[in-house]
Amino acid sequence: MAFGRITGWAIDLPERILTNDELAQMVDTSDEWIRERSGISARHIDGKVSEMSTNAGKAALEKAGVKPEEIDLFILATTTADKVVPATSSIVQNNLGLSCGAFDLNAACSGFVYGLVTAMQFADSGMEKILLIGSDSLSTFTDWEDRTTCVLFGDGAGAVVIERTSEQPCFLGWDLMADGSAADLLYCEHGGKIVMHGQEVFRRAVIAMENAANAAMEKAGITNDQISLVVPHQANVRIIDAAMKRLGIPKEKAALVMDTTGNTSAASIPLALIDSIDSGQVEQDDLLLLVGFGAGMTSAAAVVRWNSAGN
Ligand code: UT7
Repeated sequence: MAFGRITGWAIDLPERILTNDELAQMVDTSDEWIRERSGISARHIDGKVSEMSTNAGKAALEKAGVKPEEIDLFILATTTADKVVPATSSIVQNNLGLSCGAFDLNAACSGFVYGLVTAMQFADSGMEKILLIGSDSLSTFTDWEDRTTCVLFGDGAGAVVIERTSEQPCFLGWDLMADGSAADLLYCEHGGKIVMHGQEVFRRAVIAMENAANAAMEKAGITNDQISLVVPHQANVRIIDAAMKRLGIPKEKAALVMDTTGNTSAASIPLALIDSIDSGQVEQDDLLLLVGFGAGMTSAAAVVRWNSAGN
């Protein structure tokens, strides 16, 4: 059990919105196919990870009432860094006026939960304030002639400020996993575009989500009926429905934003989490289950007690 709690949060989405109807003019697809098979109607594109992260990070710091110089560590979860070198976290660190260690963390679509687990360990070991951002620009690496992938991806960023608390723990259990033997199911070479074997990724995603979520709940010592809200990776609404069924949690308890964001990789869980918070769906002491999966194939889950009141 770890003693960090989320005290500030914010998102950023690029201005350019690409609709399904526009995609239907680019490749052989239709609005109906995309919505029925994925649950996506539109997505934001043309984002840059450093810019989206800077915007989201600045707003999250303001929301938490934390000054940049107070942050002890900055973690940027991304799989679409601006450049190979340096880490995009260094660019964002400078943009935000931080004066602390900063590193990129690449666990693809599981990146935000990997980052959260990492941040909580640092909080446990004594760090007071940590900034965590999940941000990706999948549109930069999308093959716009491949209808099996280009209809799914989008760009965005979600940022949270984590502060150490000496009172009740808020981070109750987690699970991290990777299966590198499946790495060729979803990849992008240097200078290339994203390649995905969708059906097999779909099949494995449902199982990985179920396994990660169950392991995190077990470590937290809680059962599925105690979960108020599941915040899943936003890849495909059918994957989420299938995973919720296997977990025995009503699908109405899943936070969903993919309709308007598409799959934004490391940004997708914070985008869904922050949408739920801002729309009043999360209450003090609610137990939240964050669960992601992605290229690698990585998977990650965490059980968080929501503690906006700070007790
Ligand atoms: O965050 C990373 C993790 N990524 C994911 O979780 C993605 C996982 N995979 C998926 O979400 C789904 O597999 C897809 C959305 C990619 C595809 O859905 P599907 O139901 O698995 O479709 P499918 O691959 O079985 O294809 C069904 C048909 C095929 O045509 P035929 O062979 O039946 O004639 C495809 O060629 O749909 C066709 N198709 C399309 N048709 C219209 C594939 N993409 C499209 C498209 N528009 N965009």
